Amino acid sequence: MDNHRSVRREGKRVFLVDQTKLPHEEAIFCSEDYQTTCQAIKDMVVRGAPAIGAAGAYAYVQAAIGCTNNRQQLKTAATEIRSTRPTAVDLFNILQTLTAITEKNGSISDLEQEAEKAVEGIVSACRRIGEFGATLIPDGARILTHCHTGSLATVEYGTAFAAIRIAHEQGKNIFVYVDETRPRNQGALTSWELSKYGVPHEVIVDNARALLMQKKRIDLAIVGADRICGNGDFANKIGTYDVAVLAKHHGLPFYVAAPLTTFDFSLSDGSQIPIEERPSKEVLEIRGTPIYTSGTGVYNPAFDVTPADLVTAYITEKGIMTTPQIGAL
Ligand code: MRU
Repeated sequence: MDNHRSVRREGKRVFLVDQTKLPHEEAIFCSEDYQTTCQAIKDMVVRGAPAIGAAGAYAYVQAAIGCTNNRQQLKTAATEIRSTRPTAVDLFNILQTLTAITEKNGSISDLEQEAEKAVEGIVSACRRIGEFGATLIPDGARILTHCHTGSLATVEYGTAFAAIRIAHEQGKNIFVYVDETRPRNQGALTSWELSKYGVPHEVIVDNARALLMQKKRIDLAIVGADRICGNGDFANKIGTYDVAVLAKHHGLPFYVAAPLTTFDFSLSDGSQIPIEERPSKEVLEIRGTPIYTSGTGVYNPAFDVTPADLVTAYITEKGIMTTPQIGAL
């Protein structure tokens, strides 16, 4: 097991790099039971679609160990794990595989093996995504990215982030504009990870990206995804749709990078994706300090849906694909 991973497990203990403390403190959150892991997912100690999937898989293993694989109790645990966050589909896809093992009377050891296989699958998929994605990034490119898609969000490597990291490692002279990504400021995590790999970048407030595109200071946009439907519509962090519309208006390529665990072929289009609404204090407060008068109303959707016709290409572990190619997966 790799101690550098953002999500890992030793027996019934699950270790998470605490993303709520970064970039100022590098702390490890340790969970001894599935309920604590569920709370950590809700509180965004662990976040990012593939990392949530990995944490959910481990939560299920914790539940199986904690209730000695009792089927009824495991069913309840699976429901609790699924109810942590609604939009990113990796969690649901991975749990489906694990619950099927329970239904076939699989042992705790079978569940442990399958959970590890799923996590290894995410890591190797992200590595491939990075390699494919890097081919779309020319030398000298100035890249816009939104939210955070690095190792923290995906266990290792990242999705859109992996493409950027590998392009940089290949010696390409690239520069990244990092959306701040209000209200949770995932841009701080992107900036922290880019700094670790020495990738030149600047953080911008989300409202600055239109100006940068207008001034021809961006060559391409690349983002991750939380759920991609069979028709190519996809949910990602709130603000992604704006980036796609702006890219189209300015004639820039707009790429989406995600592993196959982030695909939901049961949904024919993006209108069916459940969009999470988060607590109002994420908007009303900055690091615990209120910035609005008390009683101010808030609408705080965590994701939006970008229609497939705004996507130039999807980058998966199977290669770079257009919308019809995804439909054929
Ligand atoms: O709400 P979060 O922070 O869990 O958001 C998920 C994300 O990290 C992004 O939407 C990301 O672009 C996709 S996950 C690699």
